[in-house]
Amino acid sequence: MSKQEIKIQTTNNLNSLPGVGGFPSAPGPIGVFDSGYGGLTILDKIRTELPGYDYLYLGDNARTPYGTRSFDVVYKYTLECVTHLFAMGCQLVVLACNTASAKALRSIQQRNLPLMDSSRRVLGVIRPTVEAVGALTHTNHIGLLATTGTVQSNSYPLEIQKINSDIIVTSEACPMWVPLIENNEHLSEGADYFIRKNVKNLLDADPLIDTIMLGCTHYPLLEDKIKACLPEGITLVSQGEIVARSLADYLNRHPEMDARCTRNATCRYMTTESTEKFSSSASIFLNEEVQAEHLDLG
Ligand code: DGL
Repeated sequence: MSKQEIKIQTTNNLNSLPGVGGFPSAPGPIGVFDSGYGGLTILDKIRTELPGYDYLYLGDNARTPYGTRSFDVVYKYTLECVTHLFAMGCQLVVLACNTASAKALRSIQQRNLPLMDSSRRVLGVIRPTVEAVGALTHTNHIGLLATTGTVQSNSYPLEIQKINSDIIVTSEACPMWVPLIENNEHLSEGADYFIRKNVKNLLDADPLIDTIMLGCTHYPLLEDKIKACLPEGITLVSQGEIVARSLADYLNRHPEMDARCTRNATCRYMTTESTEKFSSSASIFLNEEVQAEHLDLG
């Protein structure tokens, strides 16, 4: 499907959504979006850093994984979900998904926000991660473990180049990791096999790597198993705290947006799939029980 077709289709979808063309203008919760459960690892750290705010999490579990999908499809799905979050009152949305940040963020910011509501903001996770990781390497050789989509987008190497052109990024796509996590198989021996294989591929490709980024918000659940495969002296970096600190800094620097985010310390969870499955699986990612609500994308 061409980008032009996507654009027309998206415009039709937008027109049929409640609230579009007149999103609620009152302050609202901070929206946090992921293709599935992975964004919960980011939400968890954001809520620790910024506990007073209200949050609305949306997992597009019905269409996960995004990591193996094309640019156009990830863009279309992400835009639909962001639009729903806007319609539900969010003034600020964090794409807590590297694949969506890599494949949809720029288009949404540049093409869609000016048409939808230029005062709203959508933020991604790649830029803050790159800024933090660039300062950690001593060898200037960084490894990236991410979905196929994020690796193919080349977003991480491109962003790192903007910060330090001496840094070499070597990437390894791990297409099995998200399905293992989404199916609650991440602690199995099957998971061990794929983790060992992908980590070995990465380190064989560049033995000078001293810092590895987990460029997928699902992967913190595999952190212990990944660390067990790593030789001494390699730093493994998860994004949660980095993104949380970056959001706190953003709100500090943008008081006008801060004032548009409500603060009653609440958190709502929405899923495009079964609420029972989401509620039980979400507890793997969070240390609390959640009651999810269903969102019908129409
Ligand atoms: N959690 C998403 C990310 O950070 C990807 C998961 C998926 O493949 O849908 O890339």
